[in-house]
Amino acid sequence: MQLRVALAQAAAVLEKANIEEARLDAEILLAHALGITRAQLHAHPQGQLSSAELANYRQLIERRARHEPVAYIVGHQEFYGLDLLVDSRVLIPRPETELLVEKAIETSQRQSVVTDVGTGSGAIAVSLAIHLPQVLVYATDASAGALEVAARNCRRHGVEDRVHLLQGHLLEPLPEPVDLIAANLPYVSQAEWAQLPPEINCYEPREALDGGLDGLDHIRRLLARAGEYLRPQGAILLEIGATQGEAVITLARCHFPAARVEIARDYAGLDRVVMVKT
Ligand SMILES: C[S@@+](CC[C@H](N)C(=O)[O-])C[C@H]1O[C@@H](n2cnc3c(N)ncnc32)[C@H](O)[C@@H]1O
Repeated sequence: MQLRVALAQAAAVLEKANIEEARLDAEILLAHALGITRAQLHAHPQGQLSSAELANYRQLIERRARHEPVAYIVGHQEFYGLDLLVDSRVLIPRPETELLVEKAIETSQRQSVVTDVGTGSGAIAVSLAIHLPQVLVYATDASAGALEVAARNCRRHGVEDRVHLLQGHLLEPLPEPVDLIAANLPYVSQAEWAQLPPEINCYEPREALDGGLDGLDHIRRLLARAGEYLRPQGAILLEIGATQGEAVITLARCHFPAARVEIARDYAGLDRVVMVKT
């Protein structure tokens, strides 16, 4: 079958399944199935698919039609200019989280010790290790499966010597105090969980998203203990949901009354990162 015919058929299947970017996803999955780029696909729309290739492509399209995220199907996701491996054991890194990485890079001194709490795929930890070549990073996660994915990403990007992966609850596994705590912890509230699209609430790990009744369970626990793990003049950067700014600022001021507490907005103009500078 010609590539362009297979593509048109696949896009129609995805449209019928209410996939928003049906054509784009059909192209990404065809390029993935053939091991070529989308540009190569566009350059040779008359090329032929063998029956084995077509069968494989149709399986990928069926998965997408059941709303499995493209990143899990192709097994990787771009984040902060890096190609990261992902699978269903980790949250797919989001573009909003790049703001946390930017702020962490601005905040860090040359030889800081930093921690990425709830590292998941290692997105934040690996980005920081690459952009801050002198820092030591402790990356923690409660999930052993997530840490396996993070370990693969550390090796893939050659930072396994400077990113120490530690399994455990929040800051508890840290062997020493740090200069910077960066965390994108679960912050989805119970009410929001029910409204999430199937791509998220049927496929991504619930423990990576669910922050309890108001979404702030993990952030509350982290802020309550952060003082014990922070060096003098240390900072905390927390990714938050767009409506959680006031609540998290209040919590931060309660635990760090002398600190400068600020909020950074993402590119959509929404509150996204709370910064606590002690
Ligand atoms: C929102 S995901 C963030 C993943 C990654 N940092 C990112 O930004 O793409 C939250 C992560 O926190 C981890 N997590 C949840 N509860 C935790 C806890 N009590 N202690 C440590 N990690 C936890 C989850 O396993 C998940 O990997």
